[in-house]
Amino acid sequence: MGLWLCALVLVLRGLWLQPSAAAPSFSIDYTGNSFLKDGVKFRYISGSIHYFRIPPAYWKDRLLKMYMSGLNAVQIYIPWNYHEPSPGVYNFDGDRNLEGFLDLAAQFDLLVILRPGPYICAEWEMGGLPSWLLANPNITLRTSDPDFLQAVDKWLSVLLPKIKPHLYINGGNIISVQVRPAQTKVENEYGSYYACDYDYLRHLVAVFRSYLGKKVVLFTTDGTKESELQCGTLNGLYTTVDFGPDENVTEAFEKQRIHEPNGPLVNSEYYTGWLDYWGELHSTKSAAEVARGLEKMLELGANVNMYMFQGGTNFGYWSGADYNNGIYNPITTSYDYDAPLSEAGDPTDKLYAIRTVIGKFQVLPAGPMPPPTPKFAYGYVSLPQCVALLDILGILSPSLPFYSSFPATFEALKQPSGFMLYRTFLPHDIQEPVVLSAPEDGIHDLAYILLNGVYKGTLERNRVNGINISGQLGDTLDLLVESMGHINFGANGSDFKGLVKNLTLGSNIVTDWLIYPLGIDKTVSHSWPPVAPLCHGTGPAFYTGFFTTLGIAQDSFVKFPGWNKGQIWINGFNLGRFWPARGPQQTLFVPGSLFSSSTINTVVVLELQNAPEKPRLLFLDRPLLNGTQTSTHKNQIKATPI
Ligand SMILES: *[C@@H]1O[C@H](CO)[C@@H](O)[C@H](O)[C@H]1NC(C)=O
Ligand SMILES: *[C@@H]1O[C@H](CO)[C@@H](O)[C@H](O)[C@H]1NC(C)=O
Ligand SMILES: *[C@@H]1O[C@H](CO)[C@@H](O)[C@H](O)[C@H]1NC(C)=O
Ligand SMILES: *[C@@H]1O[C@H](CO)[C@@H](O)[C@H](O)[C@H]1NC(C)=O
Ligand SMILES: *[C@@H]1O[C@H](CO)[C@@H](O)[C@H](O)[C@H]1NC(C)=O
Ligand SMILES: *[C@@H]1O[C@H](CO)[C@@H](O)[C@H](O)[C@H]1NC(C)=O
Repeated sequence: MGLWLCALVLVLRGLWLQPSAAAPSFSIDYTGNSFLKDGVKFRYISGSIHYFRIPPAYWKDRLLKMYMSGLNAVQIYIPWNYHEPSPGVYNFDGDRNLEGFLDLAAQFDLLVILRPGPYICAEWEMGGLPSWLLANPNITLRTSDPDFLQAVDKWLSVLLPKIKPHLYINGGNIISVQVRPAQTKVENEYGSYYACDYDYLRHLVAVFRSYLGKKVVLFTTDGTKESELQCGTLNGLYTTVDFGPDENVTEAFEKQRIHEPNGPLVNSEYYTGWLDYWGELHSTKSAAEVARGLEKMLELGANVNMYMFQGGTNFGYWSGADYNNGIYNPITTSYDYDAPLSEAGDPTDKLYAIRTVIGKFQVLPAGPMPPPTPKFAYGYVSLPQCVALLDILGILSPSLPFYSSFPATFEALKQPSGFMLYRTFLPHDIQEPVVLSAPEDGIHDLAYILLNGVYKGTLERNRVNGINISGQLGDTLDLLVESMGHINFGANGSDFKGLVKNLTLGSNIVTDWLIYPLGIDKTVSHSWPPVAPLCHGTGPAFYTGFFTTLGIAQDSFVKFPGWNKGQIWINGFNLGRFWPARGPQQTLFVPGSLFSSSTINTVVVLELQNAPEKPRLLFLDRPLLNGTQTSTHKNQIKATPI
């Protein structure tokens, strides 16, 4: 199209789309207890969806299904650490194309309720905060600590100008924006407690207003406990609540009414299901119960966002961890959430039950719900090539190791996630076994122990603190340390990774470490397979296999028969952590978009403990999310994922 024609089309589009002179508006009507959209009473029925947990090839499909379910809005988080991988380096392309996602939602007439953080929780690595913030060990996250605010302000100065044109009042589809308060620890004579950091909240509000303007609706979301609600309330912010199907709807909204006597009723997170932790029971929530609660809220005229409408997947190293009562609880790779759309994006009975309820209150879109996407059971794929991790250390960590008398953290060495190797040498002969021991909570989060390259066992945060060692002077002692995700919830924000305390061997502190940050993902996606001697089957090692999909590139689920714990890549894409020995998740979702239908596919598995005698994977056409649980502790922790 010639330039002049483009210009003409733009002018005409402008004229046709906005025939009346009135600018789009979205506001709160305190007398009508409602939202007003372009001056007309408006109620949203929304669902949460996280673009960062869904391959971009499927964004359109999922949004279409949400639209066909009768929703008129979606609620999304923005994870800061996904878009600013290192300080000052920004990524908004491909699977991080936030604006592309907003535009796709607009194509389906879906409005957007935006939750830009900077802290999001979301069971996501460090609740969305970049772990590089912890390179400054003194920083106090989520407070008005000047070091933290400086990083926040710089990020928001990049993000919010991108958001501004997408506001509904500016012709886009974002109707409201959440501001998230923070709690800080206060010490007093009665002990310590957590209180609201109003300075932090006020600061965020001022920054949001300065970039987004005075008119946009800003809101807070909190649980229905009075202490939580008090933290969220501040003049100029609309207070909303979150609660699940177990709570009494009338009573929950009465809590909101204490703080907002007038204005729309809003449940910002109505829980359709729940998350899973490694080693604990698989969570589900009955469709009938979810539908019943939804109907009650809609009868009251309330606005509802369902969390989640589709959960998706914590690919790579992105799953977070909760930390409550002194126990570290990492979250599974699947974020299926027992949501109305499954992890693979398929409509469930819960979706149909919800749609039926919505149909009682408003006209559903005409036409059928798109059917489930086809799945394919590719069957067994064998992984005949094996190399020990230690044998390719020079490739995984090409620079000289970092020497330190005492252990340094991942953050100090700029390792954002994944793995680092800590190496030392036995300082004397050890005839009778002595215990290599970490203080409680000294290992963040797992350490695979090797002596002269032979795997000896695993230490685990809050669970296994010691292992017996014997050997000779000068023997190589390696600890491959794995981050299972920075804590995303709970008061303790600064979750450094690696060996965070000194280890002892017998009664002596272990000193003189060579520390190797590992760039495993870069190696697997750029120069695989490496040339190295064959390996012997126990301890951390990479297993590689090749296969064709015979022209079929469909979604699948990969099972790990006889494997224990590790990480898997398909054609260089990091699918996530597997841990069938711990459960409950037994299969990982494999998006068909990862397969090449014309060339050979490469699958790489990093097994950290013991591989099966016959190293192979099994690709199924359905997920297994409820397998064995072998929890080593009895605490069943339920945190609130707000
Ligand atoms: C952190 O605080 C300690 C103690 O106040 C100080 O010695 C150190 O220099 C600080 N580190 C940074 C990076 O600011
Ligand atoms: C919910 O609470 C209200 C007010 O306390 C009460 O009247 C009603 O019976 C409760 N509903 C249920 C289902 O328990
Ligand atoms: C180390 O070995 C001793 C003697 O066999 C045993 O009593 C102890 O429980 C072992 N400790 C660990 C941490 O395995
Ligand atoms: C936070 O974590 C650090 C390091 O694990 C620990 O020393 C501290 O006691 C924790 N604080 C709270 C409040 O749990
Ligand atoms: C390890 O011990 C040394 C010497 O006591 C001490 O200076 C250092 O801070 C300790 N390191 C950690 C991570 O606790
Ligand atoms: C998961 O499996 C356990 C053990 O077989 C069973 O008791 C439980 O009901 C299952 N849970 C779900 C949600 O299917």
